[in-house]
Amino acid sequence: CGIVGYIGTQAATEILLAGLEKLEYRGYDSAGIATVWEGEVNCVRAKGKLHNLRSKLEQLENPAQIGIGHTRWATHGKPEEYNAHPHLDTAMRVAVVQNGIIENYRELREELKQKGHEFRSETDTEVIPHLIAEFLKNLPASSSSSPFLDAVRQAVNYLKGAFAIAVICADYPDELIVVRQQAPLVIGFGQGEFFCASDTPAIVAYTRAVLPLENGEIARLTPLGVEIYNFAGDRLKKQPRMLNLSPTMVEKQGFKHFMLKEIYEQPGVVRASLEAYFTNIEESSESPINLGLPREFYADLAQIQIVACGTSWHAALVGKYLLEQLAGISTQVHYASEYRYAPSPLTPNTLIIGVTQSGETADTLAALAMEKERRQGQEPQYQARLLGITNRPESSLGLMVPHIINTLAGIEIGVAATKTFIAQLMAFYALALDLAAHRQTVPLEKLVEIINGLRQIPKEIEATLEAQESLTEHLAHDFAETKDFIFLGRGINFPIALEGALKLKEISYIHAEGYPAGEMKHGPIALLDAKVPVVAIAIPGSVYEKVISNAQEAKARDSRLIGVTPVNDGEAAEIFNDLLPVSSVDELLSPILTVVPLQLLAYHIAARRGLDVDQPRNLAKSVTVE
Ligand code: G6P
Repeated sequence: CGIVGYIGTQAATEILLAGLEKLEYRGYDSAGIATVWEGEVNCVRAKGKLHNLRSKLEQLENPAQIGIGHTRWATHGKPEEYNAHPHLDTAMRVAVVQNGIIENYRELREELKQKGHEFRSETDTEVIPHLIAEFLKNLPASSSSSPFLDAVRQAVNYLKGAFAIAVICADYPDELIVVRQQAPLVIGFGQGEFFCASDTPAIVAYTRAVLPLENGEIARLTPLGVEIYNFAGDRLKKQPRMLNLSPTMVEKQGFKHFMLKEIYEQPGVVRASLEAYFTNIEESSESPINLGLPREFYADLAQIQIVACGTSWHAALVGKYLLEQLAGISTQVHYASEYRYAPSPLTPNTLIIGVTQSGETADTLAALAMEKERRQGQEPQYQARLLGITNRPESSLGLMVPHIINTLAGIEIGVAATKTFIAQLMAFYALALDLAAHRQTVPLEKLVEIINGLRQIPKEIEATLEAQESLTEHLAHDFAETKDFIFLGRGINFPIALEGALKLKEISYIHAEGYPAGEMKHGPIALLDAKVPVVAIAIPGSVYEKVISNAQEAKARDSRLIGVTPVNDGEAAEIFNDLLPVSSVDELLSPILTVVPLQLLAYHIAARRGLDVDQPRNLAKSVTVE
């Protein structure tokens, strides 16, 4: 979901709508805006995409200079207008937007109903405006300089769960109150105007001076300034900082979709990562890599546990391969949502890594929080061995773990992750090679060879993009009626088969399965016939011949075979019905290249079907609920 808030000297509605447009990628079943004008709360909501809300608002003249807005990704209650935010109290004086989940909403709802409050939605959020109204009613007269702030503060002390909220009230037209408790919220400082948002793209067109709130903080925004408090009501001292993000970074720049633009930005992402992580080989002593990690990361590390979700989980699987094969450290990769409730036994000298491009995925944060907690009271080296890999170091993950590898993808708007995946792969190459150098598990000459190979990757991606754009577009024509796809890969390219299948599922809604090529014969082969195309990643190296034999097995069942391979000899031409050629690279580095044609294939199939590539149905960029 996305939150935006505004207070200042301009008409709020347009600013809120423009902000919501930039946040729409985070969730979009419905949307709404509330403002305060002439002593009343004015609330307009609409089901579906934002343009529905925009057309409703166009019919209204509204000069209000304070307001809040929301795009919703349904958790509690169907995506209907009555469940859309903002939610109001019974007397319609208090309006609230929320991201997250209020866990104790059922009890609160019952209590409030008994006190005469009328509920109009199925959401957990609706208890908040009623609770605030209840406290406002019962506040002693002239109790403080801001009764509204006091009422919100008292209300949030009753809420259990993870949430970020923004509140306005018809009786306090000069105050916007925002709260953060384990869901992201940032405040923006303009000239005579202030903003709040769940993510920076919503406000970067107006200001780059921001202050991300921390958990347990409340801010009071008035036309005269911003005050920050904790939940106990103590005023806190805070400093805004400047964002390194320009408004053009959140534009499509001539591309039809953000996803395509982001696919094309991948060579630049690899270059930026090489520059940041791989320092000059001659100058360094122990390792040619610089990740700024402390010494205890290298001494007697015995095991690594990685937690992640979605595409980040696939990057972690490539990471496992690299960490085990290069640095010789036994590594396990877990779905974050599983690890939290069934963690591996706590063993000494174990590093835990959380991988999340957004830094806000609730499952990943919860798994890390659990791990952090159970390590407390252990020896210090347990507590230090917590690492985050994220594209948003200022995120909740950044606040939670002591060490971060910052991936350098720049902001990603397309819901289906592309360039952030490549950036995560680069972080894993750097980490595995760094550990290998310190632990001397790979000879220096070999390390130098691998790094030199990595330096060639950006231009190889460029060549792949050039060669494949029209090939994949053309190929996409043939899959208008296709219902199932199988992706096969082995070894280091097995996770790429998973990622290829996930990309296709996410944006084209075609059922797709990624499988280790050798495992196909143990089940999925039963699905194959002429209607089920098979994409096989076949890179010369340790498993090439084996992948080719597995592909033959599919071909023998009449499947149309698409090969992602640098090989273009008679044998390849004979086996594969279609070739998606990639440059010839070392197998160890090939995932950075083989994923590109799969991204393009998914993109073109979805675009050809006329689907909403950047905002696929039911998905959200950052899933802040468990
Ligand atoms: C959502 C997104 C996926 C993403 C996953 C994990 O499901 O739609 O694209 O891979 O979350 O996100 P994270 O921010 O933790 O990498």
